[in-house]
Amino acid sequence: MTSVCLTRWQRTIGILAALASLAGSASAIAEEHDRPAGGSELSSVVRDATAIQAGKERFSERCAFCHGGAGRGAKGPCLTCGRFRHGGSDASLYANIAGGIPGTQMGAFGTTLSQEEIAHIIAYLRAETERRKAAGELDD
Ligand code: HEC
Repeated sequence: MTSVCLTRWQRTIGILAALASLAGSASAIAEEHDRPAGGSELSSVVRDATAIQAGKERFSERCAFCHGGAGRGAKGPCLTCGRFRHGGSDASLYANIAGGIPGTQMGAFGTTLSQEEIAHIIAYLRAETERRKAAGELDD
């Protein structure tokens, strides 16, 4: 177990560093509503198969109940369609997952998921969105 964990841990140090800088920008997040979904620092850091797989598993356990299989939407909105009502930047996604969206059924996961787990989920959502785009499943 230790050698696998160490490797994964080393890989996630970059993610945590990126998240630390995101945490500092939390107050700016409310202004990001109309930003298109897109790559930024965090996505390039976490574009890694192990992180994406971990995010997929965590998403199935904690999110698919409301957001559907592969995040395609159920009672909660689609998270792999390339559009976000509350902001599509990594910082917005992080804030909405960790802090929830007040007044809606979207709860705060910041106390029950680690920063690393949330980063993995974001990596998975990005990867799945890209896969769907490449497969022609999404209109632009
Ligand atoms: C109990 C149901 C429920 C669960 C569980 C849930 N969500 Fe949500 N989520 C919602 C609903 C409903 C909304 C839409 C809120 C609104 O705008 O009205 C939402 C919105 C969101 C948004 C913002 C979408 C946008 O368009 O900007 C993100 C991101 C998100 N959820 C991620 C997650 C992740 C990741 C998980 C798992 C860790 C999760 N949610 C678990 C119900 C849920």
